[in-house]
This record gives sequence, C-alpha cells and structure tokens, in this order.
Amino acid sequence: MKLSVIGCGYLGAVHAAAMASIGHDVVGIDVDERKVASLSAGIAPFFEPGLQEILAEGIASGRLRFTTDMAEAAGAAVHFVAVGTPQQRDGYAADLTYVNAAVDELVPHLAPGDVVAGKSTVPVGTAAQLAERIGPTGATLVWNPEFLREGWAVKDTIDPDRLVVGVPAGTDGERAAETLRGVYHTAVGKGTPYIVTDLATAELVKVAANAFLATKISFINAMAEIAEATGADVTQLADAIGHDVRIGRRFLGAGIGFGGGCLPKDIRAFSARAEELGRGESVAFLREVDAINLRRRERAVQLVVEGLGGSVFKKNVTVLGAAFKPYSDDIRDSPALDVAVRLHGLGAWVTITDPAAIENARRIHPQLNYVEDRDEALRGADAIIMVTEWDEYRRELDPAHAASLATGRVAIDGRNGWDAAAWRAAGWTYYGMGRP
Ligand code: UGA
Repeated sequence: MKLSVIGCGYLGAVHAAAMASIGHDVVGIDVDERKVASLSAGIAPFFEPGLQEILAEGIASGRLRFTTDMAEAAGAAVHFVAVGTPQQRDGYAADLTYVNAAVDELVPHLAPGDVVAGKSTVPVGTAAQLAERIGPTGATLVWNPEFLREGWAVKDTIDPDRLVVGVPAGTDGERAAETLRGVYHTAVGKGTPYIVTDLATAELVKVAANAFLATKISFINAMAEIAEATGADVTQLADAIGHDVRIGRRFLGAGIGFGGGCLPKDIRAFSARAEELGRGESVAFLREVDAINLRRRERAVQLVVEGLGGSVFKKNVTVLGAAFKPYSDDIRDSPALDVAVRLHGLGAWVTITDPAAIENARRIHPQLNYVEDRDEALRGADAIIMVTEWDEYRRELDPAHAASLATGRVAIDGRNGWDAAAWRAAGWTYYGMGRP
C-alpha cells in the first residue's frame, strides 16, 4: 500500500521505516531539511535499537524515501500524521501548532477516499476538529494512537500489543477501519487485538494509558517515601505486591521517577484538557502523581548531600547516566540529567557519563564534565550515583572494581538496580531510593 508519514521525529521516522519493512511503499515528510537528509542517507538521526537496519534496508529497497515536499503525499492511500505535540511554553496544555500546520498543508494534496490517520498524542476533541477541516476533500480522518516505548520502538511498531483505530460513524469510517487493518496486516494476521472505536475514545486511550503508567510509577515512589520513614524496603514491597496478577510487577520500579518526552507532558496536557471540559476534579490526582515524581529527583540529590556529610561543594560526584531511560539517547525531561544539574548547582564537580546521550546532554548543559568511558568517569569520585540503569552501570559494574577507581565510598542507587549487600561488602556506604 502507498503510505505517507508526516513528521519524521521519533514516532514518524520509526513508523515510516517499520511500515516499509512490512512491505509498504512509504514517503516520510518533514520540514527539517537536516533530518530528511540524514534519513534519506539511511542514517537514523537518533539512537533506537534496530532502526538503523530497517531504515537502511527500506532506502536500499526503494520502498522508503524522505522529502520536505508535502506534495509528495499525493497518491498515498493513508497519510499518517506523526508530528510532535509538546507542552505549551506558558501552560500545561499541549501545543497543537504542528498538528494543525501539518493538516493544513496536507489538505490540498488529499483525494476523495484517502485516509488521514492521526498518531500524535492530542487532547481529546482534537480529531473531531481536524475531521471538519479535511471533510471537504472527501478524505476520512481516523485516530490511530501509538504506544511505542523508546528503546523498543521498532518492535512495538511492527509487533504491537494492541492496535486502536478511532473512526467516524458511518460507511466511510467502516471503510477506513478496513484500510488500516490492511496497513497492519502482519500484526492483525498474528491475532493482535484490533480495536475499532470512535474518535474520542481512541484519543483518550492513549492519554489514559500514559496516565495509568505514570500513576503506577508515582504510586511506588510514594511507597518509597513511606519506606524511607519506616525503614521498610520498597523493592521487596514491589516484588510482594507485584505477585498479585491484578497489580503486576512491571512499572513498579521506584527510583528517581519518570521523565522523557511523553509521560510528564501527557499527564499535564490531560489535566489541562480535563479542566477545559469542566472535569478537572476527575484527574486531580495527576497533580499529585507529578509532584511525587518531581520530589524523587530532589530526594536523590539529598542522598548525595547526606552521603558526603552535608555538602557537595567542591566534591567530585560521578553521575552514571544522562538519558531518561536506558537504550535511548533521549534527554527530554530526563530525571538523570536533572539530578546532575542540581548537584552542579550546589557546587559539586559533576562528571557525567552515558553510553548514548552525551552528545545531546552536552548541547543543553555544557557546564557539566562529560566523560565517555565509564571507568574514566569513576576515577577520583567522592560519590557515585546511578541515575539511568544501563547494563554497564546496573549489572556489569562490579562494586570492588568501582572502589578501585573512586576516592570516596558513597554509592547512591537512583534506580534501585544494585545489590545493596554486594556494594556494602565492597566497602561502600550504599543508599537506595526507599531502601534501608
Ligand atoms: C511511554 C509509554 O510507556 C509508551 O507506551 C508510550 O507510547 C510512550 O510513552 C509515548 O507516549 O510515546 P517512553 O516514554 O518511551 O514510553 O518510556 P517508558 O518506558 O514508559 O519510561 C518512562 C519513564 O518512566 C522513564 O524515565 C523510566 O525510567 C521511568 N520508569 C519506568 C520508572 O521510573 N519506573 C518504572 O518502573 C518504569
């Protein structure tokens, strides 16, 4: 099938390459010439496992190409809109500038029978407004939210755990749902749940899923705060409650909390939209979810200060990790980087390392000392703190080896990923997040 993907950021670039990899003929369109040049050369503009391969393959096969010219969308049966919806500069609501601009530019190139499939995360009600704009073209607007996780984006796109398509009532909607079923033929063929719903439900499914995940993380971080006041161990607590299949252990990782380009902005945009709908009370808890989350960053900083005897001033602190999570070079709202910057602000000499995110982090926070090599970064540290649980920090860092490099013996485990007993046995004063 011939497809266009408008917006080639994280979501769009992966979607375009993944759709080409399952046999579609795809054109990716973006206003950013540098991004288009990189993608056209088969080079992934960001770190995402597996993307490089399917991108290069798609370009070589001739099934995948990228352009800045929106006119090239003409002739595609489905146009995916995958542009960003960042938080507004002056509020919590989502900024819809890019979505509106993309649709306005696309309209002149639409033909009757085309399907426009929104993938961006938008406030509920946006799709209905966009449907009015494209109505006169004879194309049909559907909403097809994306649930991919960074680090697993290729797998999540090709082999998702569910597909959701919101369509308008009537035969156009039914036909569009069938068209999308054809786009996702490989996943549908494997029996992946294919949920056809109305536009508003589809928009809400996305924000509800992210709100739930954020709430789950903040719930366990709230328990970490209680554990800190009582001497309990939140990791054991999470294991114990996680055995209840109704609760489940995943996303009960207490630590410095969630960040990234999705969960933080999505819960805020959801609150803002609920207020507009006169239902602010219904999601008032999301404000607490946000507040708990942000407190954990401060707690991690406090632990470093405490470990170093009350002040980090002129102390060497090594921060392991900059990305908002492992297997990503994304530093958007990264709690890891935030902790590093706060420590720097308190007068610490911060050395930070990360297997993938140094370049991005340096651009935004040039004041920190970046070191590529983990062991080099550990050398001479008065305290070390793990804030992104990459394997080389979490599993592969032997506490005795770390002790042979560092000067001090203060280890803060911002992701509760280390074996506390092993670190203590190697002579470290170990601090976890909600662990004794
Ligand atoms: C999230 C959702 O998981 C995806 O389903 C969704 O499609 C995506 O947002 C989106 O809206 O585009 P992502 O931002 O890639 O995906 O990252 P997550 O894996 O959800 O992690 C988010 C943050 O939560 C990270 O900072 C991570 O370190 C943190 N986290 C995760 C915890 O602190 N504890 C946990 O137990 C799990």
